[in-house]
Amino acid sequence: MSEPLILGLETSCDETGVGIVRGHELLANEVASSVDQHVRFGGVVPEVASRAHLQAITPALERAFAKADVDPAQLDGIAVTVGPGLVGALVVGLSAAKALAVALDKPLYGLNHLVAHVAVDMLEHGPLPQPSAALLVSGGHSSLLAVRDITGDIAELGATIDDAAGEAYDKVARLLGMGYPGGPVIDKAAAEGNPAEIAFPRGLTAPKDLVKHRFDYSFSGLKTAVSRWVETARLEGREVPIADVAASFQEAVCDVLTAKAIDACDYLGATDVLLGGGVAANSRLRGLLEERTAAAGITLRRPRPGLCTDNGAMIAVLGAEVVKAGRPPSAMDIGANPGMPVTQVLA
Ligand code: KG4
Ligand code: ZN
Repeated sequence: MSEPLILGLETSCDETGVGIVRGHELLANEVASSVDQHVRFGGVVPEVASRAHLQAITPALERAFAKADVDPAQLDGIAVTVGPGLVGALVVGLSAAKALAVALDKPLYGLNHLVAHVAVDMLEHGPLPQPSAALLVSGGHSSLLAVRDITGDIAELGATIDDAAGEAYDKVARLLGMGYPGGPVIDKAAAEGNPAEIAFPRGLTAPKDLVKHRFDYSFSGLKTAVSRWVETARLEGREVPIADVAASFQEAVCDVLTAKAIDACDYLGATDVLLGGGVAANSRLRGLLEERTAAAGITLRRPRPGLCTDNGAMIAVLGAEVVKAGRPPSAMDIGANPGMPVTQVLA
């Protein structure tokens, strides 16, 4: 079989994503975001997100087929996120995918959103060396993975024991009054600040923590430390140096994320580390990981920022890998799986 032509649908949170790939070649990647509708609530409102997906999905499909110049009848398969994510949002993409699969008589592949965040790098940098270590950092998850086979053998070395990195960005941005989503605004503000100004804590890095939590993360103590620092400054009538707080917070997050990722490569004997998930768009994380991988002689694979945040192309390229590996399609009665573990690639 030549490289499979795959449609990918993604509706796990607030982005309606439709992607089309042929193997590792990106043909279309249409993303409609409902983020503007959530701003005034300071976070994603599930019901609002579901309604936005319903409105956006058909036009996004039409744009994607036009952009790729592909006739739906030519597809080799339809891939769709089944989890993890918001159940009402997931159901919209899943229903659309099932309808297309039935109408076009194509196999359906229900895929894991988190694994797709790692797989997306193949669109830019080709096949994954296996095993690879992967640092997966999104709004809801922060994990270190051992990827032995992206279509079916993924182990979780460690994960956050409380907040995800993206969640910490969103919460800190809120307490600094910087708006939502927090990642991009803190990233921008931090560029003007001094990352060494405030020594915020690095969670789970003390020798005693490393015994039990070598590859785990914790960001809730950091969030509390930032909150206390800001509160004290306000009580003392000092002006809060937003840029310095943002830069120092960001440094604490990126320092721990990258140090443990390098340690994971060492542990696995992996020559490559992959960076994936929405927080992978962060400029300091990208830069620091680049410095530290270069110093350790490890190859860094990081997708461009536009492919890091949620999109349909990442689902499509994982679908193409799954098809090439000869994995059986999903049953037509699969349901959304909001808590799907990262170790399960295919439903
Ligand atoms: O992967 P993603 O698009 O959605 C989930 O699957 O959760 O990740 C969204 C998260 C949000 O928390 C957002 O603040 C964060 O990614 N994010 C960033 C940046 N861009 C998005 N975090 C830090 N720096 C960025 N530039
Ligand atoms: Zn995501």
